[in-house]
Parts: sequence; C-alpha cells; structure tokens
Amino acid sequence: MAQKKNSKPAIIILVTNQKGGSGKTATAMNLAAAIHDAQKRILLVDYDPQNTLLGWYGQADEDERIRIPYLNLAHPGIDISEELEQRQFDFDYIVIDGRPNLEISMSGLLLLSDLVLVPLQASLADLHSTQGIVKEIHLAQQARPDLRFSLVLTMVSNNRLLLQYTKDAIKELGYPLCKTQVARRECHPHAYALGQTIFDSRSATNRAAADEARKLAAEVVKLVS
Ligand SMILES: Nc1ncnc2c1ncn2[C@@H]1O[C@H](COP(=O)(O)OP(=O)(O)OP(=O)(O)O)[C@@H](O)[C@H]1O
Ligand SMILES: [Mg+2]
Repeated sequence: MAQKKNSKPAIIILVTNQKGGSGKTATAMNLAAAIHDAQKRILLVDYDPQNTLLGWYGQADEDERIRIPYLNLAHPGIDISEELEQRQFDFDYIVIDGRPNLEISMSGLLLLSDLVLVPLQASLADLHSTQGIVKEIHLAQQARPDLRFSLVLTMVSNNRLLLQYTKDAIKELGYPLCKTQVARRECHPHAYALGQTIFDSRSATNRAAADEARKLAAEVVKLVS
C-alpha cells in the first residue's frame, strides 16, 4: 500500500566536510538511525561516489540488512535536486552523505539543504580543513539566509587538552558547534563490518554510542525546527 504523503517537505540535512575520514558517513548513518529509531520517516542518501553507505548496507545478508530507506544518488549525471524534489513529501527527513570535495554540484546541494553538519576530529589541522566548506556555506547563506550549519566533534578521545584547544579555536572563528560530541568507540567500525547500525546491538558500548546519537539527533532536529 502506498504511504500517505506528508503535508510539509522533508527537512534536508547534508553531512559534509572536505577532509577525508572525518566521520561524515558514520555521522550520516548514526543520525539517520537515531531519527529512524524515533519512528520518523527518514531517507538516507548516498552522494559520495565512494559509496561507503552502499558497502555498509551490503555487509549483511539480505534478510538482516539495515532497514533505513537508502537511495544512491552518487552516479554521474544524476540531477540530485530533481531526485530529492520527487521524494520530498514521502519523508520527514532526508540525510545526505556528501562528497569530500567542493565541486559545483556540492554548492547546488547547499542551496537545497536546511542544515549542513560538518563532522571533524578534535584537531587544529582538521579545523583548518573545514574553512573551505564554511566559506561555501557562508556564500550559500547569501542566497538562502535560513540555511543553518554546525560543526560536530567526532571520534573524540580522552586528550582533553587537544579537545579544549580545538573548541577554543572554533569559538574564536565564531563557527557554531553542536554541544553533543561523539566519542571514539570501536563499536562504530564494528557496526560497519557487521552491516548493522549502532542501534542494532544492545552491548554496553553500543548503548552508549546510540544514546550519544540520539542526543545529537535531538540537537540537530531542534536546529531545524
Ligand atoms: N566515533 C567513532 N569512533 C571510532 N571510529 C569511528 C567513529 N566514527 C567513525 N569512525 C571510523 O573512522 C573511519 C572514518 O569514518 P567515516 O567513514 O565516517 O569518515 P568519512 O568522512 O565518511 O570518510 P571519507 O572521506 O572516506 O568519506 C571509519 O573506519 C569509521 O568506522
Ligand atoms: Mg564517507
């Protein structure tokens, strides 16, 4: 049976950062899993030609695969705005795993998004690498003043000094930063290896990671409500 259409278009959350390995895909998946767990209609879109999300889903057998609706829009020649427009009333949220470069299609995507989430590790070098995307976001905000963005610290270890340096530098730059930070936990790469989300196992470390993902999702949803 066809699902009822929403009266409002989906809120589009783009997860991106030029820096490779900064936690984009894990953030997109965990955010989608937390929103899905809260019984909201969510579509997870893969816009990265590396197709890490596709690989993630494919790690498990068909009957044990992640149930979050997934759409691969990373093929060349795809008109992403048309594809999103067609589905915008079928979901409450669309979370996009963006590509790690600032090509023209990414600036177009910024204009379609309601919120850009920029995950980064607690390192000054990684913070400097976000300046390109933040510049693009500021440009996009001239055309779309209601476009929101926020950095989110991820893979946070117990190096408190480095964490504090990074937070201070973010504050100095005036960039918004999510209060919730995501700790470095082995359950994240494990979830990928098993083709599961961190919500699919009840181990203590998974529960802690899932609680963090719920907190981040609540914060992010508040930013765009
Ligand atoms: N909180 C975390 N704790 C531990 N490992 C993590 C965490 N988040 C992500 N990882 C791992 O770090 C690696 C890089 O993360 P991820 O693939 O999400 O980054 P990315 O920015 O999408 O990379 P790429 O630029 O290649 O697309 C992966 O092996 C992932 O499982
Ligand atoms: Mg990725």
